[in-house]
Amino acid sequence: MAVTLLTLLLFAGARSVSCQYNASTAIATPSKTTSGSSAFVTNFELSLDDYWDLFVGPVSTFSINTTVEPTPIPSSSLIPPPPLYYPSFPIGQQVPLQAKNESWSFPKDFWYGVAGAAYQIEGAVKAEGRGPSIWDVLSHRVPSYVITNETGDVADNNYYQYKEDIARIAALGIKAYSFSLSWSRILPFGSGQVNEEALRHYDDVIDTCLQYNIIPQVTLYHWDLPLYLQNSYGGWLGSEIVDDFTAYAEIVFNRWASKVHHWFTINEPIVFCGFYPLPVGFFKNTTIPPKQQPYVCGHNVLLAHANAYHVAKSVNSSLSVSFKTNGGYKIQRTNSSADAQAVQRAWDFQEGWFANPTFINGDYPPLLKDYVSTFLPNFTEEQKAHINGTADIFAHDAYTSDFIMAPDSGIDACTSNSSHSLYPQCYNTTKLYANNYWAIGPAGDPGTPWLNKATDWVPAFLHYMQDTWKPKGGIAITEFGISEPYEELRKDLASILIDPIRSSYYHDYLQAILIALSEGVNVVGTLAWSIYDNLEWTSGYGVKFGIQYVNLTTQERYFKASAFEYVNVFNVYLEK
Ligand SMILES: *[C@@H]1O[C@H](CO)[C@@H](O)[C@H](O)[C@H]1NC(C)=O
Ligand SMILES: *[C@@H]1O[C@H](CO)[C@@H](O)[C@H](O)[C@H]1NC(C)=O
Ligand SMILES: *[C@@H]1O[C@H](CO)[C@@H](O)[C@H](O)[C@H]1NC(C)=O
Ligand SMILES: *[C@@H]1O[C@H](CO)[C@@H](O)[C@H](O)[C@H]1NC(C)=O
Ligand SMILES: *[C@@H]1O[C@H](CO)[C@@H](O)[C@H](O)[C@H]1NC(C)=O
Ligand SMILES: *[C@@H]1O[C@H](CO)[C@@H](O)[C@H](O)[C@H]1NC(C)=O
Ligand SMILES: *[C@@H]1O[C@H](CO)[C@@H](O)[C@H](O)[C@H]1NC(C)=O
Ligand SMILES: *[C@@H]1O[C@H](CO)[C@@H](O)[C@H](O)[C@H]1NC(C)=O
Ligand SMILES: *[C@@H]1O[C@H](CO)[C@@H](O)[C@H](O)[C@H]1NC(C)=O
Ligand SMILES: *[C@@H]1O[C@H](CO)[C@@H](O)[C@H](O)[C@H]1NC(C)=O
Ligand SMILES: *[C@@H]1O[C@H](CO)[C@@H](O)[C@H](O)[C@H]1NC(C)=O
Ligand SMILES: *[C@@H]1O[C@H](CO)[C@@H](O)[C@H](O)[C@H]1NC(C)=O
Repeated sequence: MAVTLLTLLLFAGARSVSCQYNASTAIATPSKTTSGSSAFVTNFELSLDDYWDLFVGPVSTFSINTTVEPTPIPSSSLIPPPPLYYPSFPIGQQVPLQAKNESWSFPKDFWYGVAGAAYQIEGAVKAEGRGPSIWDVLSHRVPSYVITNETGDVADNNYYQYKEDIARIAALGIKAYSFSLSWSRILPFGSGQVNEEALRHYDDVIDTCLQYNIIPQVTLYHWDLPLYLQNSYGGWLGSEIVDDFTAYAEIVFNRWASKVHHWFTINEPIVFCGFYPLPVGFFKNTTIPPKQQPYVCGHNVLLAHANAYHVAKSVNSSLSVSFKTNGGYKIQRTNSSADAQAVQRAWDFQEGWFANPTFINGDYPPLLKDYVSTFLPNFTEEQKAHINGTADIFAHDAYTSDFIMAPDSGIDACTSNSSHSLYPQCYNTTKLYANNYWAIGPAGDPGTPWLNKATDWVPAFLHYMQDTWKPKGGIAITEFGISEPYEELRKDLASILIDPIRSSYYHDYLQAILIALSEGVNVVGTLAWSIYDNLEWTSGYGVKFGIQYVNLTTQERYFKASAFEYVNVFNVYLEK
């Protein structure tokens, strides 16, 4: 597959470019045009390999480089751990310090699973025709963007070892596996020519799930944008992304709608839109002011998501299709009216940014709209109707909670001052109670300062989601988990595998969901993040979220204690 060169020379960035055109590997594709660039026009074309070389360079590979059958799971690794330091639910080897609460249960069809995402786990980045994504560039070419300078080149080698990965979670008793598709595997340049090898790969991932009686749940976009789309029109900052995402969604839904019921279009737009502005010099430059870029991205996300939703429903109207949003519960830090206003700003600029348009009225929440309507076009009535109602469940990645307060200057001094450090959100957050002494809960790893265990607020949060966005299909916690503090410093396997903070997190979080269920909140599923340790984006591999440990030298996998804690709650409380 090939690509015309004209955008490449313009956007190769700080690196000096010598043309590495290889006539014998170049294949003609329908030519792409780049709006607004008259600086350089050529008929040169590059092969996919040349495109990789120009923007990413050499990548690492692993010795297991063909799809392998599962290695047997040692029966000793399926014995639950001995008692940990807190009371547990009564079963197995764990001491029954607490009787089962007969007021609690998970409905029979509640799905509990584990999640991962393509760039964080797959590896095999150049295999079988995959095109580069922005994350290949960010990890290879932007020094310290990943603070350890690590890449996803090999990651967990899931691209070749997925059969083992699925067999292992099935052996634990997990019901669902949520993974994301690599867009640039399926469409190496983001649009145009389809890579059949990639489709066949995901065919088998899905079929392997079904073979093991695991429910496959598929996300179309988990941050790994095809590089070509970033270089051509600025990725999510360009309105062209809406049509390209829609075309990608058509391929995906037409291929797998008959086998996959649970779909997520776009993962955590609050986060990846917040990555904008991307580092200057590595991609197409833009004239959109930096503070506006996240909201331009978000605007295109809403339109792209809505299109994908309607595509899915036109293929099969029974599918469950949603996007995944994220954020923690927002606790008013003091009883002041300024802090009450700050909390509302926080909801509007976080969850409400994507949830109000899709669940309430097709438009932004009021406090966000005050800001974005100064530079974004208003959604037309037609667009509002197209966006409203495009999520079947409220799929929320809810890891933690935060105290919210007004800025020191007060809110008005911030909203009227675009130089204010908290502009345009104009609310402040902290992990400390108002006494400025106690943290909200046990801290995760220092590499994730945003994350403390704060499960006490989960029932209130679930009520808030249900009351505010009234999702017809209920709420799913589509990611939750914690980075066990300093886990990276533990070097021997036995120390690594007992992860008490993470275990207590799952225990208490699921207990909180049971409380909310008993109070009438409709929670339909949970997905633990993560199936195993993986590339934690800019934090590298040292920050660990897995319920399994992966030895990255050998690619061997091991269950941690938290894996058993997670499953045990369902063994006790799932209705038979
Ligand atoms: C983008 O702008 C930066 C800073 O002005 C410049 O160094 C870089 O070469 C530009 N990149 C492209 C692709 O135009
Ligand atoms: C050009 O492509 C041919 C055929 O794929 C290959 O044998 C050759 O090594 C390539 N040359 C360079 C300079 O990459
Ligand atoms: C696959 O790995 C083997 C070693 O296990 C190596 O000899 C071979 O060159 C690799 N193949 C590719 C295509 O990387
Ligand atoms: C990452 O690479 C940059 C540039 O080469 C270097 O300055 C930095 O020390 C590296 N970081 C680590 C953790 O190796
Ligand atoms: C449509 O989706 C539902 C739910 O996933 C499934 O049961 C049904 O078989 C699908 N229909 C077709 C024609 O694939
Ligand atoms: C807020 O007010 C309520 C009742 O007036 C009181 O119970 C609570 O402690 C107050 N909270 C804070 C953080 O001051
Ligand atoms: C956008 O809508 C708001 C009201 O919701 C209105 O005040 C504003 O004038 C509109 N902007 C444009 C450009 O139409
Ligand atoms: C948006 O859709 C919801 C149901 O999905 C409906 O209750 C609501 O009336 C719609 N709002 C508008 C403004 O159309
Ligand atoms: C935000 O809160 C922190 C305390 O967590 C405080 O140090 C900082 O000054 C506050 N910033 C603003 C702009 O209010
Ligand atoms: C706006 O905020 C900046 C940065 O905090 C500050 O230096 C400036 O004085 C503020 N301007 C006004 C008018 O308050
Ligand atoms: C990972 O595997 C390597 C190679 O076999 C071994 O030296 C190392 O001890 C293993 N690490 C752990 C934590 O077991
Ligand atoms: C059992 O659950 C109910 C409903 O959530 C709760 O009110 C009660 O306190 C629980 N009992 C115990 C012993 O935890």
